Amino acid sequence: MYDSWMFMRSAMNRADNPGQVRRGTLRRVAEFARPHWGKLAVFLGLTMVDAVLAVSTPVLAGRVVDGIIARTSIQIVVGTAALIAVIAVVSAGTGIVERWQSARIGEGLIYDLRRAVFDHVQRMPVAFFTRTRTGALVSRLNNDVIGAQRAFTTSLSGLVTNLIQLALSLGVMLTLSWQVTVLALILLPAFLLPARRMGNRMADLGREAAGLNAAMTTQMTERFSAPGATLVKLFGHPELEAEEFGDRARRVRDIGVRTAMATRWFITGMTLLPTLAQALVYGVGGWLALRGDLAAGTVVTLALLLTRLYTPLTALANARVDIMTALVSFERVFEVLDVQPMITERPSARPVPPGPVSVEFSDVRFAYPAADQVSLASLEEVANLDTRGGQEVLHDISFRAEAGQLVALVGSSGAGKSTMASLVPRLYDVSSGSVALSGLDVRDLTFESIRATVGVVTQDGHLFHDTIEANLRYAQPNASVDELWDAIRRARLEDLVLSLPDGLDTVVGERGYRLSGGERQRLTIARLLLARPRVVILDEATAHLDSESEVAVQAALSEALEGRTAVVIAHRLSTIREADQILVVEDGRIVERGTHDELIDANGRYAELHRTQFAIREANA
Ligand SMILES: Nc1ncnc2c1ncn2[C@@H]1O[C@H](COP(=O)(O)OP(=O)(O)O)[C@@H](O)[C@H]1O
Ligand SMILES: [Mg+2]
Repeated sequence: MYDSWMFMRSAMNRADNPGQVRRGTLRRVAEFARPHWGKLAVFLGLTMVDAVLAVSTPVLAGRVVDGIIARTSIQIVVGTAALIAVIAVVSAGTGIVERWQSARIGEGLIYDLRRAVFDHVQRMPVAFFTRTRTGALVSRLNNDVIGAQRAFTTSLSGLVTNLIQLALSLGVMLTLSWQVTVLALILLPAFLLPARRMGNRMADLGREAAGLNAAMTTQMTERFSAPGATLVKLFGHPELEAEEFGDRARRVRDIGVRTAMATRWFITGMTLLPTLAQALVYGVGGWLALRGDLAAGTVVTLALLLTRLYTPLTALANARVDIMTALVSFERVFEVLDVQPMITERPSARPVPPGPVSVEFSDVRFAYPAADQVSLASLEEVANLDTRGGQEVLHDISFRAEAGQLVALVGSSGAGKSTMASLVPRLYDVSSGSVALSGLDVRDLTFESIRATVGVVTQDGHLFHDTIEANLRYAQPNASVDELWDAIRRARLEDLVLSLPDGLDTVVGERGYRLSGGERQRLTIARLLLARPRVVILDEATAHLDSESEVAVQAALSEALEGRTAVVIAHRLSTIREADQILVVEDGRIVERGTHDELIDANGRYAELHRTQFAIREANA
């Protein structure tokens, strides 16, 4: 029955149509299984021993019956029975070792695949994550990896066990009585055809349920996050949401009932038909035995072997689908592993030289990578990759921030300022031209040294759902408690942290939602101060802060900029005034550059921005 359960389970887990599998997948699977060859050999060896033992018991049982009828010695009868007992014990032992091996292989394989996928995904450029749906990616890491493992161990072991059992049982039965064997097999088509039909039906139901479950999961993960829930409260229609969810849940419920019934029918057939075949064997075999054409023990042996014939036959009838399913799971994992990270460290990469660092853009042109360069349609959960991207958003950008200087970027929204900022820490690579730190192209520098050199505070300062301390230490795991408090003080967070009952151990909530915008911003600044970067990139998003928070954030920012080379996307006159150089960016071009006074005198775009935005904001503050 265990085999039939495995069959049912695999039928239900067929989430994909296992139609075609790409060439070479099998070879790659073998490659992945290579570290486990030793265990695999032991496992297959034991499987064979087990199969032989399983066939020998019915033969011995027949001997016992023949021994009784022939009235041979008690030693022979009891001895044979004892041998059956010994075989049972040995078989139980091999079963345990077998499971141990297969569990180690299976779990080892999960481990290998998970590590490989996690490590690979982590190396993906930001562009990949801006396109990929997190749920789809996580599902690759969980479901497909497990699917690959399960199918690998159960299908493989099943295939080997079943083939050997089938061959042995059939061989022994044919030598005992070919007539009875042929008769017993007559019922087989009546058994296999409905079983396959049922299997396909289960697969369809399973696929539908999987789709519905995935949709429910997506709905829940999106709605049950702090920002999602807020959006529902503000704009959503809770009744419609509940209705939509309920609709899916209802269909899952109905599928559940139909699946249960289909399963029951399958199991019924599974137990009924071999029993009927057995009755046939008893009847025909018994008749032959009464005529003296067959020994009584042989009839018993044939009847017992029959079950060992039917079970593997059913399993093998579906083996192709099982193996295809396994390969599809593997393929979905390999697909992720095959996305080449666009931004990689050169083997010859060197660290950023010590000392103050200059930042230089030379004739930089940049286009966001097109979808097919960075992601997978199947992870975006869209049928076709969108074709946005590929258009140049920065044209011929050249400027130089000397070590210790402050360069301010101003310009209207969508001009390309944030894009410029993202090129310095190499979140993206330029299309042409170069971005250099201390005269060295960032593409020739090690990732680690860029991370240590360039600190970024973005507009939506991201925090992990963890304590304040853990979020701070993310930038500098070895920081001492004094250093932590120093950063907190300089980021003007001391009062806040001291007022919290749990202090540094306060959990900030998902994405820092339990802090105000200004507090969140100052926490990300504290994190930056702790990391002590030599270059600071700020997307100075203070526009949405109230004036009190703004003053605190401003003070924290001044600390962050102190003595560092800085590129600041500035919205505030005080920062802009302090800048050694102001770059006015419009439509991906630097249209004006100079100091505040120079640009006011020039009476161009900057003077206009000054009149219409900065001065007003200053007046309101
Ligand atoms: N991830 C992205 N993929 C494709 N285009 C983008 C992406 N991010 C920004 N853009 C586009 O690049 C241009 C510049 O955007 P951005 O640098 O964010 O402007 P700014 O920061 O000056 O407001 C805009 O046209 C924007 O639509
Ligand atoms: Mg921006």
